[in-house]
Amino acid sequence: MNAILTVADLVIEYPRPGKPPFRAVKGVSFDVRENEFFGIVGESGCGKSTLAKALCGLQPIASGTAAFAPMPRGAVQMIFQDAVGSLNPRKTIGDALTEVLTVHNLCPKPERPTRVATLLDEVGLPADVSEAYPRELSGGQCQRISIARALAMNPRVLIADEPVSALDVSVQARVLNLLADLRARRNLTILLISHDLAVVRTVCDRLIVMHDGEIVERGDAKTVFSAPSHPYTQTLLAAVPDVAAALES
Ligand SMILES: Nc1ncnc2c1ncn2[C@@H]1O[C@H](COP(=O)(O)OP(=O)(O)O)[C@@H](O)[C@H]1O
Ligand SMILES: [Mg+2]
Repeated sequence: MNAILTVADLVIEYPRPGKPPFRAVKGVSFDVRENEFFGIVGESGCGKSTLAKALCGLQPIASGTAAFAPMPRGAVQMIFQDAVGSLNPRKTIGDALTEVLTVHNLCPKPERPTRVATLLDEVGLPADVSEAYPRELSGGQCQRISIARALAMNPRVLIADEPVSALDVSVQARVLNLLADLRARRNLTILLISHDLAVVRTVCDRLIVMHDGEIVERGDAKTVFSAPSHPYTQTLLAAVPDVAAALES
């Protein structure tokens, strides 16, 4: 299968006044295949968000490369943990989605209301949500809206940075299932970033495990979970009770 993203020897640094820069990502290499559900996992502070931002061009690269296959502008979209905070509290959901369609010239004006309803339907929300304000929605519903907003851009790649970390466990599963459905229906490639192995385990085909800015393990999700080779992955797994229990059974 073709690679849609190729990352080679990528180094990302944060400048520090009066000191050498802090190296948050220390030369990572991996590729992501078209239509893959790819996991990036590791404890807080290991460099996941720094890497994600660099992939989207939001963070300068010190050395190495990160290259997507040629695709139109806007084809790589990001989803963040704080879905509620990413929505304008003074705009209805319908206005927020219409604004994306308008600003990016994605849809002729008369068709915008229908497109908004279709987007809401795609993320499993009823059409009347378009009249609601963000504060009237649950965290899970707000995350669905941020997914809808990304879908409005007709993405080929979604980079989801801790998209379910702020949600209750039961809601987490439903949002992850939605992402898995969208991957199939929209032929998306999804990069799922999480500190929680249980989250990545449920949906990812392949994954990398990061520790202190480096990749310490990589492979098929099944293989990594059934036979982790690196002590750090074993420690991460042991910290996830349901995963540990599943491994023993
Ligand atoms: N804007 C920044 N300036 C300086 N250091 C940063 C900045 N953002 C993150 N870091 C540091 O880089 C490292 C990786 O952070 P981050 O990419 O946010 O990790 P993760 O997403 O895995 O929790 C951490 O040590 C963090 O303190
Ligand atoms: Mg992060």
